[in-house]
Parts: sequence; structure tokens; C-alpha cells
Amino acid sequence: MKTGKWWLLLALALAAGLLRLPPAAVEADTSLGNVPAPQESPAAVQQGPRYIALTFDDGPRRSTTTRLLDALAERGVKATFFLVGAQAEANPDVVQRMDREGHQIGIHTYDHVLLTGLNGADFAAQVERSRTLLKQILGHNDFLLRPPYGILDEGVKSRAGCPIILWSIDPEDWKDRNAQREAELILSQARDGSIILMHDIFPESVDAALQVVDALHQQGYLFCTIEELFDLRGIPLEAGQVYCDAYP
Ligand code: NI
Repeated sequence: MKTGKWWLLLALALAAGLLRLPPAAVEADTSLGNVPAPQESPAAVQQGPRYIALTFDDGPRRSTTTRLLDALAERGVKATFFLVGAQAEANPDVVQRMDREGHQIGIHTYDHVLLTGLNGADFAAQVERSRTLLKQILGHNDFLLRPPYGILDEGVKSRAGCPIILWSIDPEDWKDRNAQREAELILSQARDGSIILMHDIFPESVDAALQVVDALHQQGYLFCTIEELFDLRGIPLEAGQVYCDAYP
């Protein structure tokens, strides 16, 4: 991360509406020499915010991903997207929008294939091809990797060339496509440092994710990207290493 942690903290808190800047009207009182009363702080801020990362795999899919991006922007929430290369190639403007709006981007192979057991050339055709494509679309090259199905071995770790990110909460949103069930499961497991796995290719998953965002904001959680989540914990992300959560 390039900026200081305090700036990130402040920006996340402001985005979530947890902190309010004093209204301009207090300026009128200064002629009386009164110091304006401090703004009331929610208990969540006083006890320290909790951080959580939303991650979305298998996109972008223009219809559902665009709706998700609109709603995340309204809420000031940053997420992390693990993209399928073929989908990114077909929707480069959506990928550019993610990057421009502060979301983090990762690789989820080019064709959504199992990475274990591939030879070097086939691995490169899935991971390096995606990395090169994303670099062409975005102009930078710092992408995380999430192997499809979360399945990996020593070969995947040694060839990854970047940190490997799994998850700690999986609502299995592909199974019954029931937004209410998914949201309830996530909310029952959410804790400081969790990484939530969802898929932005399903309308119900977008609905569930937004329910979760609104409910966890009410509880004082702040949403951040994977890089921010680990940076806030002081945990360096290293190439070839596997991370499932950032629990304190
Ligand atoms: Ni996947």
C-alpha cells in the first residue's frame, strides 16, 4: 500500500458513514468563542473498527458485475475481483472500471481450469496469459492469484509468481442461488479479518453481497481490498504463499 494506514482508516470510515465531519454550520458559533461540542462517535468506532474483505470470482459478467460495481460505489465499498481471463478479454472496459474505482484485481486462470497437474507451458497458458492480458488492459502487473476451486499443490505455489488468496467464509452461492440463505450464512460467520468468497456472475450473489455490506456496516465493519486487509494487520503478502484470512 502506498499511503499511510491512518489515511486508509479515515477514508474507509468516512466511506462507510461511520464518521461525520462537523457540519459547516458550526462556523457560525465561533464568534461567541464557544468550542463546538465534539461529534458523537458510534460505539463501533470507539472500540476500533473491524475489517473484512469481499472477494468475487469468475467474472466479469457485464450485467451482474456492472450492477454490483454501481452498488459498491454508492456505498463506498472496495472489493477484490478474481477474474477469468477470457471474461476479462471480452469485457475490458468493466475491468478498467474496477481498477479505476479502487477495487483490487486478481487472476482466476484464463479458462477457469484446475491448475494442479499442469505442465509449465499449460500453467503459463492459464496464469501468465491472464497476467499479460490484465497488464495490457490496466497498465500494471501486480495481480494476486486464486486457483479455481481453491485447489493447489506445491507446483502451483512455486509457479504462481504472486501471493495466493483463498477464503475463510464460503456461502456456496453457486448451489441454490438463494440470496437470503447466503447472506445469513455470511453474517453468522463474519469476524474481523474474514475473507468472503462470492461469485459476481449470479444476480442472487449480488443481492446477497449488498445485504451483507449493509448489515456489516451497521455493525461497524469496514470493507477493504485484500492488499489493504493484510497491510492493516502488518502481514506482508509473499509470492507463492497461501492466505485464507487475516484474523488478528
Ligand atoms: Ni471460480
